[in-house]
Amino acid sequence: MADDVLLQLDRVGKTFRSGLLGRRVEAVREVSLTLRRGESVGYLGPNGSGKTTSIKCILSLIQPSRGAIRLFGKPPSDALARARVGYLPESPYFYDYLTPHEVLDYVGRLYGIDRGTRKKRVPMLLDRLGLAQAMHRPLRGFSKGMLQRVGIAQSLLSDPDLLIYDEPLSGLDPIGRKEVRELMVDLRKEGKSLFFSSHVLTDIETLCDSVCILDRGVAVAQGRLSELLLADRLESEAVIELAADAQEAAIAVLTSVPGAVLCERAGAVVRLRVPTPRVPELTQRALEVQAQLRELAPRRDSLEELFMRKAVHVQEVGGAA
Ligand SMILES: Nc1ncnc2c1ncn2[C@@H]1O[C@H](COP(=O)(O)OP(=O)(O)OP(=O)(O)O)[C@@H](O)[C@H]1O
Ligand SMILES: [Mg+2]
Repeated sequence: MADDVLLQLDRVGKTFRSGLLGRRVEAVREVSLTLRRGESVGYLGPNGSGKTTSIKCILSLIQPSRGAIRLFGKPPSDALARARVGYLPESPYFYDYLTPHEVLDYVGRLYGIDRGTRKKRVPMLLDRLGLAQAMHRPLRGFSKGMLQRVGIAQSLLSDPDLLIYDEPLSGLDPIGRKEVRELMVDLRKEGKSLFFSSHVLTDIETLCDSVCILDRGVAVAQGRLSELLLADRLESEAVIELAADAQEAAIAVLTSVPGAVLCERAGAVVRLRVPTPRVPELTQRALEVQAQLRELAPRRDSLEELFMRKAVHVQEVGGAA
């Protein structure tokens, strides 16, 4: 495997047996993906689509039933590979009589970080996460947002290359979300690679280069966000200025191009949407009616639309959970 591939899943699947009758739950049917150094991959899917289950497989917290996972080219159980990953679980759990400082110091010891380094690094990280005032207070009574920050501080202790966060922005208020989002942007700038799940599409759009959409345990759409959004629906948008006279007739000519739709009209300026392969025909028609093509651009589908089309039927039946 190339050195710059930090994470690779090859047809990973996980089947649980649950209940007294051992009912089979296909939590993850088939997921393949690759994350390269410096990339940020968003893992998207409705409730119960298998995000947490696959993340647990990546971290070797559970064993996949099928397929192969490679972390830094090694099996996920490899301690050295695992030490290069910072993990934030879906609901971080800490003993609530401990303080953030004690938690981080303890975890640092487990990582084998020496005392001198811990003494500098623990307060520095807690300060970075806005917990300087609270670092010696017991976690009992901390808000969800504060606990999330303790979890993030802990994930950064070993200065890992790859951060795997399960719903890092869930349960935070708008200010907390903004702060954590900005922190994640900064971590990317520092060269960390990111793999995180989220329900919030705008967060994925701002933080990721690539996305993987899960639908009932199957990766149904994946790739670079910019390409996915363009390729998924091959439509272009044209802004055309009509000649002064016979505007209604000109519009009729333009919309006679198969698939063309008039989206907006402001006086002599119209905005049309047309299947991209029909763009030459549209420009030809525009010439015929002496209209001027002002703008022409591929239409960028929003991630929201893509998500709804790819995974909405899961939500229609109430999720797989
Ligand atoms: N230990 C388990 N035993 C049996 N079924 C399980 C187990 N863990 C998860 N599942 C089931 O596997 C499916 C996927 O769950 P998972 O938690 O991975 O989804 P998710 O995408 O993380 O959902 P959410 O967005 O709600 O966090 C669900 O149907 C869930 O009920
Ligand atoms: Mg989950």
